[in-house]
Amino acid sequence: MSQLLAAQGAELTKRQAHENLWLHFSGQPADAADLPMIVRGEGAYVFDDHGRRYLDGLAGLFTVQVGHGRRELAEAAARQSEKLAYFPLWSYANEPAAELAGRLADLAPGDLNRVFFTNSGSEAVESAWKLAKQYFKITGKPGKHKVISRTTAYHGTTHGALSITGIPELKVNFEPLVPSTFRAANTNLYRAPLHGDDPVAFGRWAADEIERVILQEGPDTVAAVFLEPVQNAGGCFPPPPGYFQRVREICDEYDVLLVSDEVICAFGRLGTYFGAERYDYLPDMITCAKGLTSGYSPMGALIASDRLYEPFADGRNVFSHGYTFGGHPVSAAVALANLDIFEREHLNEHVRGNEQAFRSTLEKLTDLPIVGDVRGDGYFYGLELVKDKATKETFTDEECDRVLKGFLSKDLFANGLYCRADDRGDPVIQLSPPLILGQGEFDEIEQILRSSLTRAQELL
Ligand SMILES: Cc1ncc(COP(=O)(O)O)c(C=O)c1O
Repeated sequence: MSQLLAAQGAELTKRQAHENLWLHFSGQPADAADLPMIVRGEGAYVFDDHGRRYLDGLAGLFTVQVGHGRRELAEAAARQSEKLAYFPLWSYANEPAAELAGRLADLAPGDLNRVFFTNSGSEAVESAWKLAKQYFKITGKPGKHKVISRTTAYHGTTHGALSITGIPELKVNFEPLVPSTFRAANTNLYRAPLHGDDPVAFGRWAADEIERVILQEGPDTVAAVFLEPVQNAGGCFPPPPGYFQRVREICDEYDVLLVSDEVICAFGRLGTYFGAERYDYLPDMITCAKGLTSGYSPMGALIASDRLYEPFADGRNVFSHGYTFGGHPVSAAVALANLDIFEREHLNEHVRGNEQAFRSTLEKLTDLPIVGDVRGDGYFYGLELVKDKATKETFTDEECDRVLKGFLSKDLFANGLYCRADDRGDPVIQLSPPLILGQGEFDEIEQILRSSLTRAQELL
């Protein structure tokens, strides 16, 4: 009887998912049975309502750094809910938010000591732009309001963050967006127009492109440059050597704030707490979210330098911005427990110690004609798919729909690997798993990819 009730309950939930739940960035499947229902997670794996197991090759959405099913994070949330579930940061502090701010200030590079909590990455990006604008207004440069970001870069979905995003197809339905954002080249070395064989020269060129846009718009109008340490959309573009150092010089020269958008790259993704540390540059602000709590509770943050906080320090100027749930005590308690796991299990060291093995395992796939490039750092890799390796010929739109989305995404999942097949730039498979993986899981990923990519090749 109870089994029958459970089966009826599962069927109802499936129907509700199909009829009432609005999926994000997805078309609704025609049939309820085609909508995967993920019900449970354990370590590097998640399980669906049929009990099938999937290796989580994307850490949910670049988020579940410490892996699934960590009881101590659930317990931290429960303890804090009982003690103080909620109180706003509007004129009041709460203990977990204060402690977390202190801990993040200690971990963040240089003088990035002031933490403004948000609920998401988009809100962190939104907050960074607003802070940049207000900062310049109250320090005598009110014309500085524009933002530069890179082509194909994703920075979120709220109006400001979407304006900063460099993916036209994501923006077109919502135009007019917030004006005043401009694009410079990204660091796609594989498809570098010039200097493809000279990363240093390419990095110099790509950084100088930012200067070109600053000069074109007028330095007195440009407030900030938003860059990810490794650009996600387009398929993991790491910075060429010297790139960020040159960008820093340019930002200093024109008094433009450098915002390191680390919504993906912070908290161990690259084997360091922050991506800026990995590539040795000092931004004026860091935006982060996702891995801050490993997704056990939503939270984001903007971490700003002492210089940016200074005009607000004596209380005469107020950053006129905030969120009901900013610095939520339960999320902050979870983030603190998450950072405890990082320390105790040496997760950054684990990533740095294993990243080469992960990369080498994925590079075995370059013997397949369809795999044109494997790139990334840490536990964050993209495999660019091509029709012809010699010419780097990419897929047509029809092939992206039919082979990448129509076949590969589904086949990989059916074979037990959850990862991302993305065509916001050229077609890529992206991997960004929990940071606890070792060689056994790397091999499992490689084998599933090999089998699905071999079949995808035949469909081209
Ligand atoms: C670099 C970057 N910035 C901002 C965002 C937006 O974050 P959220 O989805 O939490 O709003 C994302 C999301 O993936 C991101 O990758």
